[in-house]
Amino acid sequence: MANSADLTVDGKTYSFPTLEGTENEKAFDISNLRDQTGYVTLDRGYKNTGATKSAITFLDGEKGILQYRGYSIEDLAAKASFLGVAYLLIYGELPTQTQYDKFESDIRHHTMVNEDMRKIFDGFPVDAHPMGVLSSLVSAMSAFYPDSNDEDNTDLHIIRLLAKLPTIATWSYKRSKGHPMNYPQNKLDYIQNFLNMMFALPVEDYTVDPVVVEALNVLLILHADHEQNCSTSTVRLVGSSQANIYSSISAGISALWGPLHGGANQEVIEMLENIKADGGDVSKYIEMAKNAKSTGFRLFGFGHRVYKNFDPRAKIIKKAADDVLSKLGVNDPILDIAKGLEEAALNDEYFVSRKLYPNVDFYSGIIYRALGIPTNMFTVMFAIGRLPGWIAQWKEMRENKEPIGRPRQIYTGPTHRDFVPVEKR
Ligand code: ACO
Repeated sequence: MANSADLTVDGKTYSFPTLEGTENEKAFDISNLRDQTGYVTLDRGYKNTGATKSAITFLDGEKGILQYRGYSIEDLAAKASFLGVAYLLIYGELPTQTQYDKFESDIRHHTMVNEDMRKIFDGFPVDAHPMGVLSSLVSAMSAFYPDSNDEDNTDLHIIRLLAKLPTIATWSYKRSKGHPMNYPQNKLDYIQNFLNMMFALPVEDYTVDPVVVEALNVLLILHADHEQNCSTSTVRLVGSSQANIYSSISAGISALWGPLHGGANQEVIEMLENIKADGGDVSKYIEMAKNAKSTGFRLFGFGHRVYKNFDPRAKIIKKAADDVLSKLGVNDPILDIAKGLEEAALNDEYFVSRKLYPNVDFYSGIIYRALGIPTNMFTVMFAIGRLPGWIAQWKEMRENKEPIGRPRQIYTGPTHRDFVPVEKR
């Protein structure tokens, strides 16, 4: 690889260093571009911009590779537990048994939330979307832990976030149903606790189904990190102003909510439901998506900013959807519609030429539905899965003492004008 790259502008040539990551991704280091040339770069949507150096997650969108700290997503999904993966992402290595036991036990013993937080839930309308509630409550945690910016306590804040997010998430659901909120139970592990808080009712026994636990374990691992995506970049950007970890993660939750990002999993199921209600004619919807500019309709769960051959997570999830539905004896007609849609799209020139493939959100909602998780909680599930990644990225950004994030712009507004008094406008 060349050690430098030359740029000739206005007749003058400038030299910029190049650099290469451990997986051979190449970059121009333009840190001094503006100082030297007076120019900035324009890269809407950051399609070509490396915002940071990171040692957490590697992905190759052309080859469909995803690795957390060097371990392949396929291996982790098959062999690891979600909390083991969380530890790996946050602390850089797979935990020893002793490290894992402590981490798991610390999380298990921090799942309760301050009783005053319950009062905040009462202030929301019952039909509030759980993502809005989740983001607000996570932000509110900074009020309950005023030492939230004390770096000596970072590990404790990390434990608190991991432990309490499922409690807050399930409470937002319980409140929307008008059901009593369930307290966490220390005898249950992370995923069992989530399921118990989500589904147990005081009037009958609830037994956690191991098939459901295993399915959720895989789904959460697949969502755990995805390098500098929209919500993660948001977490790092907010955190770069030295905002505390709770506010930074709360901002990430809000970014995830959008339908072009994590909110797509809810949109996918609603889209599949509409297709079913409309007679199940997938070709009609393929045509609508091909004319997205006039119809405004996109095939949700299709396309990805970085994956241009396939999304390795979607491959695992598609198989998991088949397995889980058959183990649970669920026959969901929208799974067939999803497969029909995928097949039609993968054989259509419009989708092939634009390299549009099913992404992680295409089949995940079908599994969540089979597990009994309501549609408006799908993106919350994504947030629970993504939390370790956000934490790891926030921590790395702080430890690397990154400067405050502050992009430039190309101004296109009016040039200087004199103020016009109101009577003359
Ligand atoms: N359906 C129909 N056409 C699409 C779709 C889609 N789902 N996605 C992209 N296209 C088309 C665009 O119209 C555009 O066509 P053109 O070249 O004729 O103008 C072309 O493909 C490129 O699309 P862009 O929007 O420029 O690609 P970008 O990389 O900016 O967007 C994104 C990626 C946002 C994921 C997009 O594919 C999309 O909106 N998909 C649907 C929403 C979705 O599933 N989001 C979840 C992503 S995964 C995640 O965040 C966890």
